[in-house]
Amino acid sequence: MYANLDKMKLAYTDQGKGMPVVFLHAFPLNRTMWGPQIAACSAQYRAIAVDLRGHGESDAPPGQYSLTDLAADVNALLDQLAIPQAVLVGLSMGGYVLFAFYRQYRRRVKALVLADTRAAADSEEVRASRMQMIQAANTEGAGPIAEIMLTRLLSPAGQQNPELVQAVRSQILTIPVRTITRDLVAMAERPDSSSMLKEIVCPTLVIVGEFDQGTPPSEARRMAEAIPGARLEIIPAAGHLSNLEQPEAFNRALLSFLQGIS
Ligand code: MLT
Repeated sequence: MYANLDKMKLAYTDQGKGMPVVFLHAFPLNRTMWGPQIAACSAQYRAIAVDLRGHGESDAPPGQYSLTDLAADVNALLDQLAIPQAVLVGLSMGGYVLFAFYRQYRRRVKALVLADTRAAADSEEVRASRMQMIQAANTEGAGPIAEIMLTRLLSPAGQQNPELVQAVRSQILTIPVRTITRDLVAMAERPDSSSMLKEIVCPTLVIVGEFDQGTPPSEARRMAEAIPGARLEIIPAAGHLSNLEQPEAFNRALLSFLQGIS
């Protein structure tokens, strides 16, 4: 399905009825990464997965955007769908967008699921590595980005699963280079949200893969401890894309959290 927003067409999946649960994808992927969660949640809930601006089947107006712009797109989609409040689920970059969303539109957030993400801004080292990725993408295209990201997104065992590797690689290869580079700039420029954690008053679930290297369980634990009443779930035998590496365990954690929200 498509929503015509002010300057762009935003693609989304909208399946099931009941409490709306909105899913925001990681970098540099698209809404199809949420396939197992849409299947599991849509039996009881209205599961909505969004292709963020420039990803998947969504267009993008010209020019650089910020994560706050991506949050505003999601807010505009909820306006169009006449959804006053939703549970928001974001993995990694999707989680960074949720911090921007919470900063601007917190009354719209019924509950938060922060998966394999971090509240802190980039370190200088991470910023420098993003600039190198921008150069690689501009000179060689999405191919080298896919290879770098596969080693970061999947655990060593996940990297030995040819079907999973192929599914993730083919998603990355659909993302235009200009979107990859704009995402990298937007992530490098995002503010630190650590001081906002104590202000999060909605029910919150923090999920992390046991073997997530980029946003490890120690980081997730710190985040969960800083958010009043947050629950932490560590998904065994999963890397950064915990929802795809161990979909059943991820779905169990998610559904049990959703069942506690009225
Ligand atoms: C992601 O999975 O969205 C990325 O790893 C986020 C990042 O590069 O910080």
